Amino acid sequence: MIKAVRGMHDLLGDTASQWQKVESHVRSLLEGFGYTEIRTPVLEHIEVFTQAVGEGTDIVEKQMYTVADRNSAEGAKPETLVLRPEATSSVVRAVLENQLHRAPHPHRFFYILPMFRYERPQKGRLRQFHQIGAELMGDSSPEADAESIVLLDAVFRSFGLTDFEVCINSVGSSACRPQYKEKLKAYFQPHLAALCVDCQKRFERATMRILDCKVPGCRALAEKAPRMVDHLDPESTLHFQTVQKRLSQAGVSFVLDPSIVRGLDYYSRTAFEFTSSLLGAQSALGGGGRYDELTARFGEDPYPAVGWALGLERLVMALEAKELLKVPTRKPRFFFAPMGDKAFEELYALALRLKRAGIWVEMSHEQGKKVKWLMKQADRSGAAHTLILGEDELASGQALLKNMATGEQASIPWQTIEEDLKRRTSEHA
Ligand code: HAM
Repeated sequence: MIKAVRGMHDLLGDTASQWQKVESHVRSLLEGFGYTEIRTPVLEHIEVFTQAVGEGTDIVEKQMYTVADRNSAEGAKPETLVLRPEATSSVVRAVLENQLHRAPHPHRFFYILPMFRYERPQKGRLRQFHQIGAELMGDSSPEADAESIVLLDAVFRSFGLTDFEVCINSVGSSACRPQYKEKLKAYFQPHLAALCVDCQKRFERATMRILDCKVPGCRALAEKAPRMVDHLDPESTLHFQTVQKRLSQAGVSFVLDPSIVRGLDYYSRTAFEFTSSLLGAQSALGGGGRYDELTARFGEDPYPAVGWALGLERLVMALEAKELLKVPTRKPRFFFAPMGDKAFEELYALALRLKRAGIWVEMSHEQGKKVKWLMKQADRSGAAHTLILGEDELASGQALLKNMATGEQASIPWQTIEEDLKRRTSEHA
């Protein structure tokens, strides 16, 4: 049997309804904060991510799904496209391409999109997963960082979810990070042999990533390492202090966590992660930060921005763990039970008219069925009422409407049946 690709899932039935509920709920919250939707293509040129996310990152080195573009010109090297592993780089590409950075600022964009990363699948970690993201662009103030964090906090709390921690850090800017990296290298150098194999590789190019390694030996060393927050330039220090002040004023509790360095290279200054013990090993519900220097990676003028993305699968998992995601099962309003050919013709046509008017009617297309079979189907459908029409009813001009909860039956005139069923529907809407 052909199965779905490993780490990529079908979304069915009740789960699809849960997702719809979560998406529409978050969408309205984001719109209330002034965000408008952006949808970028699934495929991007590889340079969007190699340049923005960074060559030395896991995402770019190990996790990208690449596609050779078959439409490249005769004899030319085929172009490499990538299934987006994250959307911030795509949004920035779209903003620059559409010259939005030259229009009056700020811009607030949100997206609800699938992402693709070739990672080892496990609970909460997929190869196709979905993010809800929010990017606030064209605003360099610490107030923008705080607003972005307050928004993510509000998203989780709006579902009644409180089991999470807001961890923040500053990763400095290009003005102070190089000196800090040297300090960090000098600190880890004598302990190189004690680091895990991955961190030994990170040492040269991605020294700061050692700080968020989960391997106990690395973690113990990282805890005593020099902290970025103690090596910030004065502007970055003031920026970070103001972010914290604004968060406190807004009543958002947070912890300072020097291990938050993020797995993407484009961040500067504020970086944050929301973690939850409800999720197991993959504990990040969402994360983000400021990325003022990202446009420069595309060879453009600086364009300040801050944002985050949350993992939709992880949010749903956390909400389910706390039983905060009750979606009532949708049931049909009516089940139609025709007995005889003429009744089938009549009820089939009536069902279509009601469906066009937005009323959910169920009816089996198998003809010539006995009343017992039809009533079993009616029960199984969960419909509130069953409309029974047979030869006798057609002759008397009265159809039978059975209330499935009470068993009561009422005769209703066939001539005005459509208006009658519509009226009953709107009365119980
Ligand atoms: P990220 O930390 O790579 O950031 O991903 C954000 C969130 O997506 C994670 O916290 C997690 O909930 C979810 N996630 C990541 N990888 C997976 C996976 N393999 N399976 C399931 N869920 C996953 C970004 O992607 C940045 N673009 C966020 C951002 C927006 N920064 C600024 N603006």
